Amino acid sequence: MLVLGIESSCDETGLALYDTDAGLLSHALHSQIAMHRDYGGVVPELASRDHIRRVLPLLEQVLDEAGRQRRDIDAIAFTQGPGLAGALLVGASVANALGFALGVPMLGVHHLEGHLLSPLLTADPPEFPFVALLVSGGHTQLMEVRGIGDYVLLGETLDDAAGEAFDKTAKLLGLGYPGGPEVSRLADFGVPGAFDLPRPMLHSGNLDFSFAGLKTAVLTQSRKLGNICEQDRANLARAFVDAIVDVLAAKSMAALKATGHKRLVVAGGVGANRQLRERLDEQARRRRATVSYPDLAFCTDNGAMIAFAGAMRLQAAPELGRRAYDYGVTPRWELSELRLPGR
Ligand code: KG4
Ligand code: ZN
Repeated sequence: MLVLGIESSCDETGLALYDTDAGLLSHALHSQIAMHRDYGGVVPELASRDHIRRVLPLLEQVLDEAGRQRRDIDAIAFTQGPGLAGALLVGASVANALGFALGVPMLGVHHLEGHLLSPLLTADPPEFPFVALLVSGGHTQLMEVRGIGDYVLLGETLDDAAGEAFDKTAKLLGLGYPGGPEVSRLADFGVPGAFDLPRPMLHSGNLDFSFAGLKTAVLTQSRKLGNICEQDRANLARAFVDAIVDVLAAKSMAALKATGHKRLVVAGGVGANRQLRERLDEQARRRRATVSYPDLAFCTDNGAMIAFAGAMRLQAAPELGRRAYDYGVTPRWELSELRLPGR
């Protein structure tokens, strides 16, 4: 079965072709980062308009790269939510129109399920069950993943997401958007321990997170310093990264302990962070647990994870493929609502 995946929930237009026998055939991405940079964040209306411009050329690109034609497509998966309503509608419209024209089923995929399953796209995929640390710009969650569509929320952020904390800290330090990679790079020049920032909820006794206070602590420190020099900026970035990595790693290990699982899977944009990866690898090794990451290209938003999640769902429950073409999107959507029919 050849599944076309379309991702358009935020600021990346991603398309991909996944074949259930041959694996990922092709994927293509257009990032709007350069367009939104001047505004310091994503402008929803600009995002929607750009998805419209990009989606069909990218479709031709993935077909060409895979040596396939439109009529070879057996099903279409698109990101139905969560995300920006206008941006989601672009993917939904194309998926529905194309599904109708080709007479093939389509299904809406949950963006976070895409992230959650993206480590399975690697050459050596982890087996179920595992604990997933989902760290993106909009979400920070620990989930127990027992199988496709069988997800138990173990803990989540009570306020800012980890990626949001990176982005806001970057702004405070005068760095560009998106902030994650820039803060991470600057932190490499910082002296460890030069500033001591809080580790919010480290000892809360549960698996929830809170990052709003951390960003405020960065703000307070930078105000105290006044005219901040290059080294202080790097030291602050380092203190921020150390604090957030401490909390994410400690809670991930606590989730492994609580569930008894030996496999941790990291997904979402912040999963690209090198400092986080190093810490998780080191702590997991001590517990004789393994950590899997998606390939770097599949950490941030992409079409491959949507094609893959769609293919997995359709294989598990073919009745999920709909021919009632209706353009529905779900900008707010809980992952726990994703149980497969009859399970
Ligand atoms: O998963 P994603 O592409 O989009 C959402 O679904 O939100 O994640 C984007 C987030 C941004 O906040 C970005 O700053 C962060 O991931 N990010 C990073 C890194 N690369 C991307 N954060 C820390 N270190 C990185 N290397
Ligand atoms: Zn995402």
